[in-house]
Amino acid sequence: MPDPSTASRRPLLSGNWKMHQNHFEAIQFVQKFAYLIGKDELADVDVSLHPPFTDIRSVQTVLESDKLGYALGAQHCHWEDKGAFTGEVSPAFLEKLGVDYVICGHSERRELFGETDEMVNRKVRAIIAHAMTPILCCGETLDERESGRTEGKVLGQIRAGLAGVTAEQVAAMVIAYEPIWAIGTGRTATSADAQEMCAAIRACVAELYGASTAAGVRIQYGGSVKSGNIAELIDQPDIDGALVGGASLDPDEFAKIVRLGR
Ligand code: PGA
Repeated sequence: MPDPSTASRRPLLSGNWKMHQNHFEAIQFVQKFAYLIGKDELADVDVSLHPPFTDIRSVQTVLESDKLGYALGAQHCHWEDKGAFTGEVSPAFLEKLGVDYVICGHSERRELFGETDEMVNRKVRAIIAHAMTPILCCGETLDERESGRTEGKVLGQIRAGLAGVTAEQVAAMVIAYEPIWAIGTGRTATSADAQEMCAAIRACVAELYGASTAAGVRIQYGGSVKSGNIAELIDQPDIDGALVGGASLDPDEFAKIVRLGR
């Protein structure tokens, strides 16, 4: 019999714009997207938009004034509330802007900007402390996959990322499994491979926190998600949504993904 708490996991489709679209383009995107995806279509799915920092205030204004049901997201943040951290963005400021979801530990932040598991864990805890939801990213390189080190890498990132987080907090979190070799490459993990790793992540959460926490945490797949593969991915029992990069920049394509990913 399916676990009743499993049935309550609403799919979350998140658009990670990375360093694309200035604030004018962001406003145009939201207006076009709102025309394509009506409120009734959001009854059984959550959608979050993660624009660059410079766009967040503009996007927030459109979401509020047009009463749109999308959640506001950020792509990362610092773990301290304030201080001498030139160029960094405080989680307290994001909370004040009405941000709901913050991506942390994206492989691009880890690989290009030196974010370690420890830094990612501090961010996870800071985001939760500010009443926002972390989207904790994990994933293996092609080399790690081909040499049989996928589980070790990914579950290590999960254990480190969740250190000091309570069971209740984990149950309300989002984890994004993003194989690095599938990000921006057009290569998607097969739905069976993606399901296998998402199930392994859920089993790891169960081992650390118990079955009901594992049943609550939402696990997204990310890596070249598009309208052509979302339906098969979302059909998998342990995949509760998608973190979408390139395909989330086109309102038509992202609207299709939302419609097919419910
Ligand atoms: P992609 O990016 O959809 O362009 O592969 C996903 C991500 O990096 O979150």
